[in-house]
Amino acid sequence: MAERSQSDFKAFQKRIEQELLTHRVIVNNEYCKWFEKADLTLEEVRYFVAQFSVFSNLFLVAQLKKTINAVDLDEMHAAKEILANEIGVIFRPPTRESEISRSKRAADAENEGDPDLVNTEGTVDGGTFKFKAAHFEWLLLIGERLGLTFQDMGRRSHGSEEPLFFCDELERLYGNENFSIGAGASFAVENWAAAGFWKQLIAGLKTFKETTIQDLPLGFFTWHDKVEGQHATHTQKELEDLYFGPHEFNEDQFIISGKEMLDGVAAFWDGLNTHRLAHTR
Ligand SMILES: [Fe+2]
Repeated sequence: MAERSQSDFKAFQKRIEQELLTHRVIVNNEYCKWFEKADLTLEEVRYFVAQFSVFSNLFLVAQLKKTINAVDLDEMHAAKEILANEIGVIFRPPTRESEISRSKRAADAENEGDPDLVNTEGTVDGGTFKFKAAHFEWLLLIGERLGLTFQDMGRRSHGSEEPLFFCDELERLYGNENFSIGAGASFAVENWAAAGFWKQLIAGLKTFKETTIQDLPLGFFTWHDKVEGQHATHTQKELEDLYFGPHEFNEDQFIISGKEMLDGVAAFWDGLNTHRLAHTR
């Protein structure tokens, strides 16, 4: 394999900008655009939360596959950070023991994983596990206020066709054993997640909360929005590391996988959009 140069990397970055970052699910997500400004009905929010819970729960399968298929121990650790945090291990701040982190940790323990209080940064290494800190359980709390029970959320049987397609694509691409395919899908997912959809969801849900269910807990959404804000700054460095790194990297596979992953993401939102248009008042 010929040595890669900085100008090769520039060309690769250009391809990413042109072929991935222009994807409609990043630049123009119809459902989220509507959701942000809508006067949501209970029915609409209930359907959305149920479908989101299927994605959130099945994401664990993809994340486990990503962990198993990690290309080196560092990548395995990075994948486990996300997996363990998803199921309820609270991040421990990476900084030295400061007054703030000490008191924050005390709050974590007391509130047993309340998403309004648990850390959005740090490591699961040495962190505390709480059932209540599982992201799925945060969604259950929202569901409860909407009249959804455990029996209505999180399983394949609760998912519509498009959200399930998205989950399957995550498993196939994001959890792929091939380094370039996995990396392309990860890059796609991170950039979609950083494109602002959490903020759009929060805006719509806040309006719904004010008008309809005042005690609706939005911690699941605000916590993830905070995390994404931090992730976005890392991606450029990560890209350089994998391009010039020690593992065999195939640019075309990366781009193709990224595109397919974004098509999967788009299918999820398209499914929700089709459903809401079909049920428009
Ligand atoms: Fe999560």
